[in-house]
Amino acid sequence: MIQIIEERPGDAAAIEQLLNSAFGPKRKRKISYRYRLRLPPVPGLSFIAEDNGVIAGTIRHWPILITAPDRSQRPALLLGPLAVSSNYRGHGLGALLMNRGLEQARAMGHELIILVGDLPYYARFGFVPASEFGITMPYERPERVLALALNAAARVPQGVIRHADTPAAGNSLTAA
Ligand SMILES: CC(C)(COP(=O)(O)OP(=O)(O)OC[C@H]1O[C@@H](n2cnc3c(N)ncnc32)[C@H](O)[C@@H]1OP(=O)(O)O)[C@@H](O)C(=O)NCCC(=O)NCCS
Repeated sequence: MIQIIEERPGDAAAIEQLLNSAFGPKRKRKISYRYRLRLPPVPGLSFIAEDNGVIAGTIRHWPILITAPDRSQRPALLLGPLAVSSNYRGHGLGALLMNRGLEQARAMGHELIILVGDLPYYARFGFVPASEFGITMPYERPERVLALALNAAARVPQGVIRHADTPAAGNSLTAA
């Protein structure tokens, strides 16, 4: 039976293998990985799909900041990577992982989730281009940067996505 459970410390190696096969060994060169440098995922927001001891899917979230033109900063989540092992795809595991993550993020009081991915997949969960909120990710293709406000009453911050360690003065990420 497949279960969605919180990721455990001993799962890391199997998750690395799953991610390498889903995204290729060069995945860490992606722009979105710059926001994960030097930081662990947000505690309590990493889940796996487990089938009798086999890790069939993974989802994690990282902390980021949205820096507004006036240099004020608001926290947000960067969703990903989301991956389902190729022999388990098309059976709703991706949706189960997404919905578990969204539900938990809401319960923890997070207001905004950003991800880099395909709108045709993520639109079903309510994601829209982040540009609709006036949010940009430097160097990333704008059509792949997506956003979801978790709380309808939340004021979504307009601005630029930054690494969570960015000082309030606003050091920006530079191209590699
Ligand atoms: C994307 C992914 C997580 C979906 O996992 P899954 O368990 O197959 O997802 P679900 O079963 O919930 O949904 C499958 C549906 O999504 C569609 N889908 C999958 N990837 C898609 C994409 N990139 N764009 C549009 N639709 C997509 C499938 O065609 C299928 O459509 P259907 O319901 O009409 O048949 C999985 O395909 C995967 O790991 N891909 C490689 C890694 C990746 O691209 N991750 C996402 C970017 S962070």
